[in-house]
Amino acid sequence: MTDRYAVIGNPIAHSKSPLIHTEFARQTNQDIDYQAVLAPLGGFAETVARLRKEGCRGCNVTVPFKQEAWQYALDSGMACELPATTAQAVNTLCLDRGIATNTDGMGLIRDIRNNLGFSLEGKRILLMGAGGAARGVLYPLMDQTAFMPTQETPAFIVIANRTPEKAVQITDESDFKLIAARVDSSKPAATKLEACSYEELAGRQFDIVINATSSGLRDELPPLPGNLFARDSLAYDMMYGRQTPFMNFAHEQGASLISGGLGMLVEQAAESFFLWRGIRPETKPVIEKLGSC
Ligand code: ATR
Repeated sequence: MTDRYAVIGNPIAHSKSPLIHTEFARQTNQDIDYQAVLAPLGGFAETVARLRKEGCRGCNVTVPFKQEAWQYALDSGMACELPATTAQAVNTLCLDRGIATNTDGMGLIRDIRNNLGFSLEGKRILLMGAGGAARGVLYPLMDQTAFMPTQETPAFIVIANRTPEKAVQITDESDFKLIAARVDSSKPAATKLEACSYEELAGRQFDIVINATSSGLRDELPPLPGNLFARDSLAYDMMYGRQTPFMNFAHEQGASLISGGLGMLVEQAAESFFLWRGIRPETKPVIEKLGSC
């Protein structure tokens, strides 16, 4: 029997998830039907309840419902995994097994480590933004033990935000303090978390700079100082499908490797697929296929 899955969002017509999951299913001989479902604003819980009743086994959740999905998971007694609780956002619901998680951060780490071949070990990381996107990748940046064979511990992660108080709020959260302490205790190199404004970045250098702001959507550049990129550094924009002002800036400033977020998109989908089907699909051919669309 064909198993049903869906991605829920608003808008949703542009979503590449049906294409990605259909490709994964073809590749792994899984009999699944994966559809894009538009939920009305304010109507997320009703939409999931309907899909659940219709026998849908799992969903991905995208903008603007990831936080509502987290609330839905809590309210309906689903087991929320640590990537979701720390993100306070859910992108994957396993409706048949009652599990909710967030695979965005795992997708980013797999793209950086496996596809781009860039190590996190001992690296100085700048994470720009303090919204849902930044929050969603922070825990996996600090601790990969649950989903990668080897842990790579960054030297430190600085969260910079236009509204610095929001970055401070994240670094003050007890979950992140506990994770930092746990990861720190097993390694001589500690992942320290810091929060600051963009002005406070002046004079500092980083090995990995990740843009988790929504600035690229409006063709804007966060107010970054010059001389930010260390030698052999990586500039990663979590947006995909366009050359952002941040990517142009990174090029001008001499970052060695510059990447958009297409690999992350495919990798987070692969994590969801693995959770649902217990099979890990090949991501490289799908990244290549989408990159050429
Ligand atoms: P998302 O879920 O995509 O993270 P969000 O929660 O609305 O969306 O957060 C957007 C993030 O992008 C915020 O960190 C925001 O900074 P503020 O908290 O100061 O608003 C950041 N952002 C958006 N446009 C920006 C710009 N032009 N320069 C710098 N940061 C920007």
